[in-house]
Amino acid sequence: MHQLSKSTIDAWDARYRGNFINSLSGYKSVSLIGTVNASGQPNVAVFSNIVHIGANPALIGFINRPLAAAPHTIANIQATGCYTINHITPSMVVQAHQTSAKYDDGVSEFAQTGLSELYRDGCPAPFVAQSAVQYSMKLVEVVPITHNNTFFVIGAVQDVYLSSLDCVGEDGFIELPQLDTVTSLGMDGYYVTSRLGRYAYAKPGSIAQPI
Ligand SMILES: Cc1cc2nc3c(=O)[nH]c(=O)nc-3n(C[C@H](O)[C@H](O)[C@H](O)COP(=O)(O)O)c2cc1C
Repeated sequence: MHQLSKSTIDAWDARYRGNFINSLSGYKSVSLIGTVNASGQPNVAVFSNIVHIGANPALIGFINRPLAAAPHTIANIQATGCYTINHITPSMVVQAHQTSAKYDDGVSEFAQTGLSELYRDGCPAPFVAQSAVQYSMKLVEVVPITHNNTFFVIGAVQDVYLSSLDCVGEDGFIELPQLDTVTSLGMDGYYVTSRLGRYAYAKPGSIAQPI
Protein backbone atom coordinates (compact mmCIF):
# COMPACT_ATOMS: atom_id res chain seq x y z
CA MET A 1 0.00 0.00 0.00
CA HIS A 2 1.10 3.58 -0.65
CA GLN A 3 0.58 5.91 2.29
CA LEU A 4 -0.61 9.43 1.56
CA SER A 5 -0.36 11.13 4.96
CA LYS A 6 -2.63 13.93 6.13
CA SER A 7 0.32 16.35 6.03
CA THR A 8 1.02 15.34 2.41
CA ILE A 9 -2.61 15.82 1.43
CA ASP A 10 -2.83 19.16 3.27
CA ALA A 11 0.18 20.43 1.28
CA TRP A 12 -1.32 19.66 -2.12
CA ASP A 13 -2.59 22.32 -4.51
CA ALA A 14 -6.23 23.07 -3.66
CA ARG A 15 -7.65 21.84 -6.99
CA TYR A 16 -5.65 18.59 -6.88
CA ARG A 17 -6.72 17.99 -3.27
CA GLY A 18 -10.32 18.82 -4.20
CA ASN A 19 -10.36 16.22 -6.96
CA PHE A 20 -8.69 13.61 -4.76
CA ILE A 21 -10.88 14.07 -1.67
CA ASN A 22 -14.05 14.41 -3.75
CA SER A 23 -13.34 11.02 -5.34
CA LEU A 24 -12.29 9.33 -2.10
CA SER A 25 -15.77 8.78 -0.66
CA GLY A 26 -16.76 6.86 -3.80
CA TYR A 27 -19.42 6.87 -6.49
CA LYS A 28 -22.33 9.22 -5.87
CA SER A 29 -26.03 9.51 -6.72
CA VAL A 30 -25.85 12.39 -9.15
CA SER A 31 -29.14 14.10 -10.06
CA LEU A 32 -30.63 17.35 -11.29
CA ILE A 33 -32.49 19.40 -8.70
CA GLY A 34 -35.29 21.54 -10.15
CA THR A 35 -36.60 24.56 -8.27
CA VAL A 36 -38.51 27.78 -8.86
CA ASN A 37 -38.16 31.10 -7.06
CA ALA A 38 -41.04 33.07 -5.53
CA SER A 39 -41.56 34.90 -8.86
CA GLY A 40 -41.77 31.67 -10.86
CA GLN A 41 -38.25 31.78 -12.34
CA PRO A 42 -37.09 28.16 -12.86
CA ASN A 43 -33.66 26.82 -11.91
CA VAL A 44 -32.00 23.46 -12.39
CA ALA A 45 -28.55 22.37 -11.16
CA VAL A 46 -26.57 19.15 -10.84
CA PHE A 47 -25.97 17.80 -7.33
CA SER A 48 -24.19 14.60 -6.34
CA ASN A 49 -24.04 14.67 -2.55
CA ILE A 50 -27.50 13.13 -2.26
CA VAL A 51 -28.22 10.50 0.39
CA HIS A 52 -31.02 8.27 1.61
CA ILE A 53 -31.91 9.22 5.20
CA GLY A 54 -34.83 6.91 5.95
CA ALA A 55 -37.73 5.07 4.28
CA ASN A 56 -40.47 5.68 6.87
CA PRO A 57 -40.91 8.59 6.71
CA ALA A 58 -39.28 8.67 3.27
CA LEU A 59 -36.48 11.23 3.60
CA ILE A 60 -33.64 12.15 1.26
CA GLY A 61 -31.00 14.79 1.94
CA PHE A 62 -28.35 16.61 -0.01
CA ILE A 63 -25.37 18.79 0.83
CA ASN A 64 -25.53 22.36 -0.49
CA ARG A 65 -22.16 24.10 -0.72
CA PRO A 66 -21.59 27.52 0.93
CA LEU A 67 -24.10 30.09 -0.30
CA ALA A 68 -21.53 32.10 -2.27
CA ALA A 69 -20.77 29.00 -4.37
CA ALA A 70 -24.30 27.62 -4.83
CA PRO A 71 -26.93 30.20 -3.90
CA HIS A 72 -30.01 29.62 -6.04
CA THR A 73 -31.26 26.08 -5.41
CA ILE A 74 -31.25 26.40 -1.63
CA ALA A 75 -32.81 29.89 -1.69
CA ASN A 76 -35.62 28.67 -3.98
CA ILE A 77 -36.25 25.64 -1.78
CA GLN A 78 -36.45 27.85 1.30
CA ALA A 79 -38.81 30.25 -0.52
CA THR A 80 -41.22 27.64 -1.90
CA GLY A 81 -40.68 24.53 0.24
CA CYS A 82 -40.72 22.33 -2.90
CA TYR A 83 -38.19 20.87 -5.31
CA THR A 84 -37.72 17.97 -7.69
CA ILE A 85 -34.89 15.45 -8.03
CA ASN A 86 -34.27 13.94 -11.48
CA HIS A 87 -31.89 11.14 -12.42
CA ILE A 88 -29.46 11.59 -15.32
CA THR A 89 -29.09 9.24 -18.32
CA PRO A 90 -26.00 9.08 -20.58
CA SER A 91 -27.61 11.25 -23.28
CA MET A 92 -28.20 14.01 -20.70
CA VAL A 93 -24.71 14.10 -19.14
CA VAL A 94 -23.30 17.07 -21.07
CA GLN A 95 -26.37 19.20 -20.43
CA ALA A 96 -26.50 18.11 -16.79
CA HIS A 97 -22.86 19.04 -16.28
CA GLN A 98 -23.43 22.44 -17.91
CA THR A 99 -26.08 23.29 -15.29
CA SER A 100 -23.24 23.63 -12.77
CA ALA A 101 -22.07 26.85 -14.48
CA LYS A 102 -22.53 29.99 -12.39
CA TYR A 103 -25.45 31.49 -14.28
CA ASP A 104 -26.83 34.79 -12.98
CA ASP A 105 -29.99 34.83 -10.95
CA GLY A 106 -32.81 35.18 -13.48
CA VAL A 107 -31.12 32.99 -16.10
CA SER A 108 -32.82 29.60 -16.57
CA GLU A 109 -30.42 26.67 -16.96
CA PHE A 110 -33.24 24.94 -18.85
CA ALA A 111 -33.07 27.57 -21.60
CA GLN A 112 -29.25 27.56 -21.55
CA THR A 113 -28.77 23.79 -21.77
CA GLY A 114 -31.78 22.51 -23.73
CA LEU A 115 -33.06 20.41 -20.84
CA SER A 116 -36.88 20.56 -20.87
CA GLU A 117 -38.89 21.71 -17.87
CA LEU A 118 -42.06 19.83 -17.04
CA TYR A 119 -44.69 20.99 -14.55
CA ARG A 120 -47.18 18.75 -12.78
CA ASP A 121 -50.12 19.50 -10.54
CA GLY A 122 -49.25 19.81 -6.88
CA CYS A 123 -45.61 20.76 -7.42
CA PRO A 124 -44.58 24.29 -8.38
CA ALA A 125 -41.00 23.20 -9.11
CA PRO A 126 -40.06 21.92 -12.58
CA PHE A 127 -39.21 18.30 -13.31
CA VAL A 128 -36.64 17.51 -16.02
CA ALA A 129 -38.66 15.95 -18.84
CA GLN A 130 -35.74 13.90 -20.25
CA SER A 131 -35.16 12.15 -16.93
CA ALA A 132 -36.37 8.53 -16.53
CA VAL A 133 -36.66 8.83 -12.72
CA GLN A 134 -38.25 11.97 -11.32
CA TYR A 135 -39.59 12.70 -7.84
CA SER A 136 -40.95 15.70 -5.99
CA MET A 137 -39.75 16.74 -2.55
CA LYS A 138 -41.12 18.83 0.29
CA LEU A 139 -38.60 20.66 2.46
CA VAL A 140 -38.38 19.31 6.02
CA GLU A 141 -35.29 20.98 7.46
CA VAL A 142 -32.12 22.84 6.49
CA VAL A 143 -29.32 21.88 8.88
CA PRO A 144 -26.34 24.28 8.78
CA ILE A 145 -22.96 22.55 9.03
CA THR A 146 -21.03 25.34 10.72
CA HIS A 147 -17.64 23.61 10.36
CA ASN A 148 -17.46 24.46 6.63
CA ASN A 149 -20.52 26.68 6.00
CA THR A 150 -22.38 24.01 4.03
CA PHE A 151 -25.99 22.92 4.56
CA PHE A 152 -27.70 19.55 4.83
CA VAL A 153 -31.06 20.00 3.11
CA ILE A 154 -33.55 17.35 4.24
CA GLY A 155 -36.74 16.70 2.29
CA ALA A 156 -39.71 14.32 2.35
CA VAL A 157 -40.36 12.27 -0.80
CA GLN A 158 -43.73 13.13 -2.38
CA ASP A 159 -44.66 11.77 -5.84
CA VAL A 160 -42.39 9.50 -7.87
CA TYR A 161 -42.46 9.17 -11.69
CA LEU A 162 -40.70 6.32 -13.54
CA SER A 163 -40.50 5.93 -17.33
CA SER A 164 -41.20 2.19 -16.90
CA LEU A 165 -42.36 -0.01 -14.02
CA ASP A 166 -40.57 -3.08 -15.42
CA CYS A 167 -37.49 -2.13 -13.44
CA VAL A 168 -39.33 -2.35 -10.08
CA GLY A 169 -38.98 -5.84 -8.62
CA GLU A 170 -41.64 -7.72 -6.63
CA ASP A 171 -39.83 -6.65 -3.47
CA GLY A 172 -39.77 -2.96 -4.48
CA PHE A 173 -36.10 -2.83 -5.50
CA ILE A 174 -35.55 -0.45 -8.42
CA GLU A 175 -33.02 -1.89 -10.89
CA LEU A 176 -31.65 1.50 -11.90
CA PRO A 177 -29.29 0.21 -14.65
CA GLN A 178 -32.44 -0.72 -16.63
CA LEU A 179 -33.37 2.96 -16.59
CA ASP A 180 -29.84 4.02 -17.58
CA THR A 181 -29.30 6.11 -14.44
CA VAL A 182 -25.68 7.27 -14.33
CA THR A 183 -23.49 7.67 -11.27
CA SER A 184 -20.74 10.22 -10.67
CA LEU A 185 -17.28 10.37 -9.19
CA GLY A 186 -15.53 13.46 -7.92
CA MET A 187 -16.72 16.77 -9.33
CA ASP A 188 -16.77 15.94 -13.05
CA GLY A 189 -16.73 12.19 -13.72
CA TYR A 190 -19.86 10.31 -14.86
CA TYR A 191 -20.22 6.52 -15.11
CA VAL A 192 -22.68 3.87 -16.27
CA THR A 193 -23.39 0.94 -13.95
CA SER A 194 -24.14 -2.78 -14.03
CA ARG A 195 -25.25 -5.07 -11.24
CA LEU A 196 -22.71 -7.37 -9.57
CA GLY A 197 -25.27 -9.05 -7.32
CA ARG A 198 -27.97 -8.74 -4.69
CA TYR A 199 -27.75 -10.59 -1.40
CA ALA A 200 -30.27 -11.72 1.21
CA TYR A 201 -30.47 -9.92 4.57
CA ALA A 202 -27.21 -10.85 6.24
CA LYS A 203 -27.27 -12.77 9.53
CA PRO A 204 -24.40 -13.73 11.82
CA GLY A 205 -23.16 -17.30 11.45
CA SER A 206 -23.72 -17.77 7.71
CA ILE A 207 -22.38 -16.46 4.42
CA ALA A 208 -24.52 -13.90 2.56
CA GLN A 209 -26.76 -15.67 0.03
CA PRO A 210 -27.31 -14.32 -3.50
CA ILE A 211 -30.94 -13.59 -4.40
C1 LIG B 1 -20.99 16.51 -10.85
C2 LIG B 1 -21.31 17.71 -10.00
C3 LIG B 1 -21.84 17.52 -8.73
C4 LIG B 1 -22.17 18.61 -7.91
N1 LIG B 1 -22.69 18.38 -6.66
C5 LIG B 1 -22.99 19.42 -5.86
C6 LIG B 1 -23.54 19.18 -4.57
O1 LIG B 1 -23.78 18.05 -4.15
N2 LIG B 1 -23.81 20.28 -3.80
C7 LIG B 1 -23.61 21.57 -4.25
O2 LIG B 1 -23.89 22.51 -3.50
N3 LIG B 1 -23.10 21.79 -5.48
C8 LIG B 1 -22.80 20.76 -6.29
N4 LIG B 1 -22.30 20.99 -7.54
C9 LIG B 1 -22.13 22.38 -7.99
C10 LIG B 1 -23.45 22.99 -8.43
O3 LIG B 1 -24.00 22.27 -9.53
C11 LIG B 1 -23.23 24.45 -8.84
O4 LIG B 1 -22.68 25.17 -7.76
C12 LIG B 1 -24.48 25.12 -9.32
O5 LIG B 1 -24.12 26.33 -9.94
C13 LIG B 1 -25.43 25.43 -8.19
O6 LIG B 1 -26.49 26.10 -8.75
P1 LIG B 1 -27.46 27.05 -7.93
O7 LIG B 1 -26.73 28.29 -7.55
O8 LIG B 1 -28.53 27.28 -8.93
O9 LIG B 1 -27.93 26.30 -6.75
C14 LIG B 1 -21.96 19.93 -8.37
C15 LIG B 1 -21.43 20.12 -9.66
C16 LIG B 1 -21.11 19.02 -10.45
C17 LIG B 1 -20.53 19.26 -11.83
